Amino acid sequence: MTAVKRARYSEGTVKIPAHVQSIEPFLAMEVMERAYEMERAGVSVMHLEVGEPDFEPPEAASEAARAGLVSGATRYTDSRGLHALREAIANDKAARTGVSVDLERVIVTSGTSPALLISLGALLESGDEVIVPAPHYPCYPNFVRFCGATPVSVAGDPEQGWAIDADAVRRAVTPRTRAILYGSPANPTGAVQPREVVEALAAVGPPLLSDEIYDGLLYDDVQVTSALAVSDDAFVFDGFSKRYAMTGFRLGYVIAPMPAVRTLQILQQNFFISASEFVQHAGLAALAQGAESVVLARGVLATKRELLIGGLRELGFRIPAPPRGAFYVFADARAFASDSKALASRLLEEAHVGVTPGVDFGSEGEGFLRFSYAVDEAVIREALARMAPVLAGIAR
Ligand SMILES: Cc1ncc(COP(=O)(O)O)c(C=O)c1O
Repeated sequence: MTAVKRARYSEGTVKIPAHVQSIEPFLAMEVMERAYEMERAGVSVMHLEVGEPDFEPPEAASEAARAGLVSGATRYTDSRGLHALREAIANDKAARTGVSVDLERVIVTSGTSPALLISLGALLESGDEVIVPAPHYPCYPNFVRFCGATPVSVAGDPEQGWAIDADAVRRAVTPRTRAILYGSPANPTGAVQPREVVEALAAVGPPLLSDEIYDGLLYDDVQVTSALAVSDDAFVFDGFSKRYAMTGFRLGYVIAPMPAVRTLQILQQNFFISASEFVQHAGLAALAQGAESVVLARGVLATKRELLIGGLRELGFRIPAPPRGAFYVFADARAFASDSKALASRLLEEAHVGVTPGVDFGSEGEGFLRFSYAVDEAVIREALARMAPVLAGIAR
């Protein structure tokens, strides 16, 4: 056998800088990865931890992706995205928000995540601060840290329906504040910020970075107020992962203020080149023909939401602010434990139910658990049944 020559690594060869080391694991993914390990060992797990719709992408989108692969739509595109797609996105966003959108402001990316990364990268330098109202999508503060800046948390109140407290945000502003980053509808709470809150946030001063990826997945006739409606300086993030169940296609976008567009284009050229061409064709098809599938999904999700909320309340969870958008229930689990990571771990190991610890969404989420209801009704019922005896054993 020939000896394979290996590079020799001394302990000190690889140095991860402190600001990168400060990036915390994404706990929802950690739970999912442990659940997969259990499944490989033959255990059946009910997955309520992941933020992934279980419905199918619009057939037209899948068909367009297949056709694109066959016809050779497999090249780099303009780094900002196909002109037709940027135009369709601008028109779609305008139709949903009632605000006209210049297609020049649209940069198409491989998912919403890269759009967040290049936008924060364009705005931040070491020592800067970004206000991130909590509970928040776990990755927001980590994007900020990766850019060498500091996330500044502002706690929300479930008794106020998790409405962001604009006065508290104002009090958190310092000369280093560069942006206010929030989602509406929000992950994990499902809160939809009322128009007066969005207006008050815009009046605080720094640009709004508004993640609207769950727009369209709404209940109780609630409407989303886009940051586009209240500010010309807003960065609005959106994508195809949630509304159209196209998570694995990796397609999203940012609608950026005009003065930032050229910089974002340059960052996109350098770091990602462009989103996949055939995937962009799928995005065009979803916008042209996917409306019906979104309406269907919303109806199905509304039923599952009722089922999960009712079931969790019966088990003893408190749900002070039921979700008005997205597909998560953020439930107060303090009747069972104050350590959400330990409780989630027990539910996984003993009940074989995957849920996300509330602390993943900031320390303000401690004591809560996030349950996704974008899963089969049978999965919700089975998860509730499995959790009942374990929770009964630990109720305080
Ligand atoms: C609030 C929020 N923003 C962004 C993302 C990332 O989405 P994408 O798949 O478009 O990168 C997620 C995914 O769960 C999310 O919940």
